[in-house]
Amino acid sequence: MNILIMGGPGAGKGTMSAKIVEKFNVNHISTGDIFRSEIGNGTELGLEAKSYMDKGLLVPDELVNNMVKSYLDKLEDKKNGFLLDGYPRTLEQAKAFDALAGDGALSIDKVIAMDILFDVLAGRITGRRLCKECGEIYHLQSKPPMVEGKCDVCGGDLYQRKDDTVESLTVRLDEYSKQTAPVLDYYEQKGIVARINADQPIENVWSDVLKALED
Ligand code: AP5
Ligand code: ZN
Repeated sequence: MNILIMGGPGAGKGTMSAKIVEKFNVNHISTGDIFRSEIGNGTELGLEAKSYMDKGLLVPDELVNNMVKSYLDKLEDKKNGFLLDGYPRTLEQAKAFDALAGDGALSIDKVIAMDILFDVLAGRITGRRLCKECGEIYHLQSKPPMVEGKCDVCGGDLYQRKDDTVESLTVRLDEYSKQTAPVLDYYEQKGIVARINADQPIENVWSDVLKALED
């Protein structure tokens, strides 16, 4: 099964993606994570992406489309399909992905739309902490680590993302409304969207996501 998870910044896409990947054994393709790894490795692509990401702006379509294509080409273990997280997030990306996928093995079967009011997202973003080593996602209030600043899973140090500021969030929300919301309408027309109330405790959101995927 090929799944796409959509939602505003901090809606809980990464948190649900980790659970979906474990349960359904699919490849996780998060364009945000790939860019952050390119930045960490100091590549040319990373440097270019960073100039947009730090400001909360979307990275240009052509760069993202090419990156996803080459990532998919290199996937050796196809697992049970893939989970797209954070891509496509413009109409141009959605159309480019459709052209690449056609009706074949890459086409998207189900879209999970994480519905949440924008007012809730500032708290999600400013309280988020991530493990430097394994990427586990924490939140100071809703999912605190057992030992302050340390990952429960691997003991690694926790850090805050550079774009997790209120200033950058304002830009990210604006980008979402203008560029990404139309993508959801595009998939609604295909009749493959499941809308999830993302403003519930993590376990309840997960139970709704699971129901939608097992439907
Ligand atoms: P990306 O990495 O995709 O970030 P984003 O869309 O802003 O989403 P986030 O990762 O911030 O949030 P999330 O929904 O995953 O929430 P999480 O589960 O962590 O993109 C970053 C940047 O990269 C973009 O701005 C852009 O520049 C660039 N980029 C990436 N893809 C691109 C593309 N396709 N085109 C162009 N540019 C692209 O949860 C958030 C917090 O809330 C956590 O602390 C978590 O513990 C907590 N939480 C989660 N669920 C709950 C819950 N139910 N209740 C309480 N707390 C919860
Ligand atoms: Zn860890």
